[in-house]
Amino acid sequence: MCGIVGYIGARETKGLLLEGLKELEYRGYDSAGIAVLQQGAFKSFKALGKLVNLEEKCANYATEGFAVGIGHTRWATHGKPTELNAHPHMGQFSYVVHNGIIENYQELKREMIEAGKTFLSQTDTEVIVHLFEYYFEQGMEAFEAFQATLARLEGAFAILLVTTSLSERIFFAKHGSPLIIGINAQHEKFFGSSDAALIGKCDQVIYLNDGEYGYLDPETIALFNKEHKPITPALCALPESKLSAQKEGYRFFMEKEIYEQSTVLSDAMLGRLGDGEILFEELDSAILEGIENVTFCSCGTSYHSALAASYLFERLAKIETHVAFASEFRYREPLLRKSTLFVVISQSGETADTLESLKMAKAAGLRTLAICNVDNSSMVRLSDYTILARAGIEKGVASTKAFATQVAVLWMLSLYFAKARGTMSREAIAAEITTLREVPAKTAVSDALHERTRRLSKRYLHGHGFFFIGRDVFYPLALEGALKLKEISYLHTEGYPSGEMKHGPIALADPELFTIALLPRHMLFDKAKSNVEELSARDATICVISSEPFEKADDFIPISTCNHYMLEFFEMMVALQLLSMEIAVRLGNDVDMPRNLAKSVTVE
Ligand code: AGP
Repeated sequence: MCGIVGYIGARETKGLLLEGLKELEYRGYDSAGIAVLQQGAFKSFKALGKLVNLEEKCANYATEGFAVGIGHTRWATHGKPTELNAHPHMGQFSYVVHNGIIENYQELKREMIEAGKTFLSQTDTEVIVHLFEYYFEQGMEAFEAFQATLARLEGAFAILLVTTSLSERIFFAKHGSPLIIGINAQHEKFFGSSDAALIGKCDQVIYLNDGEYGYLDPETIALFNKEHKPITPALCALPESKLSAQKEGYRFFMEKEIYEQSTVLSDAMLGRLGDGEILFEELDSAILEGIENVTFCSCGTSYHSALAASYLFERLAKIETHVAFASEFRYREPLLRKSTLFVVISQSGETADTLESLKMAKAAGLRTLAICNVDNSSMVRLSDYTILARAGIEKGVASTKAFATQVAVLWMLSLYFAKARGTMSREAIAAEITTLREVPAKTAVSDALHERTRRLSKRYLHGHGFFFIGRDVFYPLALEGALKLKEISYLHTEGYPSGEMKHGPIALADPELFTIALLPRHMLFDKAKSNVEELSARDATICVISSEPFEKADDFIPISTCNHYMLEFFEMMVALQLLSMEIAVRLGNDVDMPRNLAKSVTVE
């Protein structure tokens, strides 16, 4: 999730832009930049890595008097983290910063190249500034050119654009990515992609809504809605605390990240759902040349997404698939064959066991792919191929949105391989894509669900442990649910295949044994139901998560009626995450930073 700041006023602009970007560092980034327009001339600075690198680059620069400026911290989604790919992006007489993904950027880029524009970066963002200048050069007024540019963009965006053609103005647009305007009694004007950048500088803010756009200059706030009608800005008060601003009003980063899943899942799919096929611009046909099987290698939550993927890979792509704990893989002297595609999955891209396993595979000459959330991480740099999960920074130690985007990417990858291997018809892939498109809506947190898990959580604070049970892909989901609860409640939990309970664990069944049973309608429902009945008959305390009530359960968390088991998977995932969080809250634990844990385990 990139960070955006903007300023119009007479104070020293560079310093204000850098201060604003610092307040957005919590969003995570791999490069940063600013552009300042003063007396018709631009000064721009960009740097890789942390903001201190950018500060060094512009240390000898300062503005005097009125200026307009924009700034940006970039979390790479299209194009590697490089200075050229850092924002702001420039045209001949304009600069732009952008947060989000322009889904049709390749088509627009081709059009602009044919129109004679020169692109410097690999990013989707750069098409915006060239489109604007193209329309301006066709004779449009600057605002008209901005409107014409917005009309061409598909996808999610928050944009700030400055141009020498109107050097006291900042054009802005908001669609799918956050953007806020701030004002103060000194008539200064600010932009921020989060309140955090505006607290302490502004007295009031305008939270822009999707489709709203316009421009600011010293005298004007011109705001238009998606019907292009001028609207009166709604001024609001700012939150007091920066930390609560960073959590954007949620109690914990984990809570915020559970609520963000719907949005980041849309990001993970943007530009990748084609017409009857999956599009991964990061891959090419060579990835499967000579490949006979796949090995996933990862840890923790990333192991659970790999295990879920193994069902989809064999079912849809008909490719033999193995899954290994990295900490086991690296010492068991595994057979490494070049006919194996070695896939590491990691939110951080730095987990020591996974990284060392990747090095072993590379040393043995295997082709490697990283499914990762942090571009420029060690695993990304080492792997032959990378697919970014696009979850944005995940600050909660207990992984949520990273898991969700990993599963979505792996589901898409199974379809991508199914097409390459000819194991699914175009129609069948198109049907799966239709289902994929429903995932963001299915993961939007409803008040009813959150309230249900909050109320239920009081019943699960003690007892001698939890079983989370499920079949097929719901077994890895059960493992994930068990891990979520374990790592933030410190209660003992186990994930187990439903069908395995009678092979020993059912001996534990009694009223103090809590079982969270996943009962999807569209995957082995009757089998899983009978497993639950076996537990119920022995008076275990059971909470069923399903689209229909189960009379032999003590508690029930409803999900909506779905037409595909993977939609049930994602809905149950949200319920499990919320239930774990609410139990941990009642136990008074530190939800975001549980004891003994680190966000990235970079040691053995
Ligand atoms: C997940 O909730 C845990 N924090 C942990 O299991 C994590 O998934 C594991 O350490 C792997 O991390 P990675 O995805 O960054 O490699």
